[in-house]
Amino acid sequence: MTLADAHTEIASFTPYPIKQIPLNVQLGNESLLITWDNGHESEYHYLWLRDNCHCSECIATLTREQVFEICDVPETIKPQEAYLSDDNRLVIKWDHADHISQYHPGWLFSHCYSDSALKAKQWHAKVWDKETIHQELPTNTCVNIMQSDQHLLTWLKDLRDYGIALIKSVEREPNTLIKVANRISFIRETNFGTIFNVQAKADANSTAYTDLRLPLHTDLPTRELQPGLQFLHCLVNDAAGGESILVDGFKIAEHMREHYPEEFESLSSIPMAFYNKDKHSDYRFRGTAIVLDEKKQVIEVRLANFLRGPIDVPGHQTIALYKAYSCFIRLTREERFQFFHRLNSGDLIVFDNRRVLHARNAFDLKTGSRHLQGCYVDRDELLSRIRVLERDAL
Ligand code: OGA
Ligand code: ZN
Ligand code: ZN
Repeated sequence: MTLADAHTEIASFTPYPIKQIPLNVQLGNESLLITWDNGHESEYHYLWLRDNCHCSECIATLTREQVFEICDVPETIKPQEAYLSDDNRLVIKWDHADHISQYHPGWLFSHCYSDSALKAKQWHAKVWDKETIHQELPTNTCVNIMQSDQHLLTWLKDLRDYGIALIKSVEREPNTLIKVANRISFIRETNFGTIFNVQAKADANSTAYTDLRLPLHTDLPTRELQPGLQFLHCLVNDAAGGESILVDGFKIAEHMREHYPEEFESLSSIPMAFYNKDKHSDYRFRGTAIVLDEKKQVIEVRLANFLRGPIDVPGHQTIALYKAYSCFIRLTREERFQFFHRLNSGDLIVFDNRRVLHARNAFDLKTGSRHLQGCYVDRDELLSRIRVLERDAL
């Protein structure tokens, strides 16, 4: 393939505006170094560069997905020649198969994997306690969310970062939450339905469907993948009681890490069992209540006392797990961490169910009625929607 017919399109739908210009390329043994006009230096390994060739032989033009496989070139592959073109692309003629690759500078810069670039790209949750969320709770109206992509994007980014956001003035019509959830994407169907009605029922198959207090919990910790976003739309809430309490599980986990390191270690490494038993289903999952990523960042919280199965870890871990679990729950009961909110008819609260624990007080049906509708949308649906909306905003 000659340079003239090399395909220069980026294998992505995301535009990569050129913010930095590459000034210089230095070749090393297994990688090259680019110096950008803002002084930043990026090291790109030859294997990485070959792997990320965007030419039409390596990427299927139609799908923008890779057809090339890195195992088909020698691990020692190197440039025979590498230079910056007049339009600021990195061009590499490889020492294998006469292949030529060229790299768009906007794409290359934004995929830099230097320590500082990775650190800058790292997402950080805005963790909250009672005081901060009372001041900063992201809130918008249903009309704005339904009609304006700009409002939707801002609200979704807040929802991602705070793990909670409110929509006000939502129609009291049942099933309205489907339309709102579909502004993000598909609803995640579960054994409780596409949407679920939170009402006291004679044949309740969950404590949620009674008038009892529901302690702080995440929904469906019994499932391999806990639902990401939970929507709760309040149609009626005029019975005495039934107030909502929400707690940022990431905040509790970070507090524990700092003040109770041993308990934090136990709760993030020893698994607990969660069971959900019904006439026609029997879901079980075993996992840690605090989930960490490879950098030890908290990425998930999984807890519901009423759905716990018997602890089934080796005897020498049992007491440590009980202590750690109790420590977490006791912290969630402290008022300084609790967002106390009485849902009003027409409120729709949305929160990251893999992060924020929710509870409700018992209510008294002799004094009025209470009816919420709920549904779930997975976390990656939210992130996908944000990325697509951001394409237009870039
Ligand atoms: C639930 C739930 C909260 C409420 O249905 O899982 O937590 O306020 N409901 O009834
Ligand atoms: Zn190629
Ligand atoms: Zn719940």
